[in-house]
Amino acid sequence: MKEGFTGVSGPLLSVRDLSVTFGRGAGEVAAARGVSFDIGRGETLVMAGESGSGKTVTSLAICGLLPEGAASVSGSALFYGEELIGMPEERLRTFRGGRIAYIFQEPSSFLNPVYSIGEQIAEAVRLHRGAGRAAALRETVKLLEMSGISDAQRAARSYPHQLSGGMNQRAAISMALACKPELLVADEPTTSLDMTTEAEIIGLLMRLKQEMRFSLLFITHNLAIAERIADKVAVMFKGELVENRKKDELFACPEHAHTRELLAAYEKVGRF
Ligand SMILES: Nc1ncnc2c1ncn2[C@@H]1O[C@H](COP(=O)(O)OP(=O)(O)OP(=O)(O)O)[C@@H](O)[C@H]1O
Ligand SMILES: [Mg+2]
Repeated sequence: MKEGFTGVSGPLLSVRDLSVTFGRGAGEVAAARGVSFDIGRGETLVMAGESGSGKTVTSLAICGLLPEGAASVSGSALFYGEELIGMPEERLRTFRGGRIAYIFQEPSSFLNPVYSIGEQIAEAVRLHRGAGRAAALRETVKLLEMSGISDAQRAARSYPHQLSGGMNQRAAISMALACKPELLVADEPTTSLDMTTEAEIIGLLMRLKQEMRFSLLFITHNLAIAERIADKVAVMFKGELVENRKKDELFACPEHAHTRELLAAYEKVGRF
């Protein structure tokens, strides 16, 4: 595993009392309230919860990705002991896309339509690894192959609109991993895909996680995914994190009423 700032012990990411508010006065929306959790090195935390419960907002706040001026963020998110909340944008950029990577639900919001897949990934490789042009292109093809794209040379020459949703998500994963992150945040990365492709992408992420040893914050409303990949599961409900436990404990003995509701719904729709 890559070592970060030496001498810093404890979890990779430690979030405490994180709150996010949109608007002011009567129009104020408390999208996240007092959220606290840790992610250990190499650990997978699945954040689950119904739509609108604050999962995305929480993860965006941690990564400094909320639209500037729109949201007010308080609390703490320590990454290797360094405070991310309120960190100047310039410094934050050295973390984001570097030691912390983010995969969005829609690969289209990640990939630029006017550049080929290869150009975009190569740019990320050049930026984060200081590689030259030829080395970056070689690495790009390797990353695409690692992400399960068989004809990687062709995919590299393609533009996002020429590839399927699943292929684009694989390309987005390749790009996120170009920087060899220590923490990967994946916000419902498979929701827009069919079930077979979803299962393949989840399998891919777990394989890559084992190979590259990053920690994973995986956001989903699908407890079947949590059952398959999580070490710990955190449940969000109306902006609050209401339960955060080891997966087996949570599935065996859910404490919060909303967790029980999610589990009941999951039992009805069946396994992954
Ligand atoms: N830019 C914004 N301005 C105002 N309110 C917002 C903004 N972004 C999110 N919200 C509100 O914050 C709350 C939490 O939203 P969030 O997107 O985090 O939910 P979520 O748990 O990710 O839901 P989903 O599963 O549908 O993705 C919602 O009530 C949403 O309307
Ligand atoms: Mg969301």
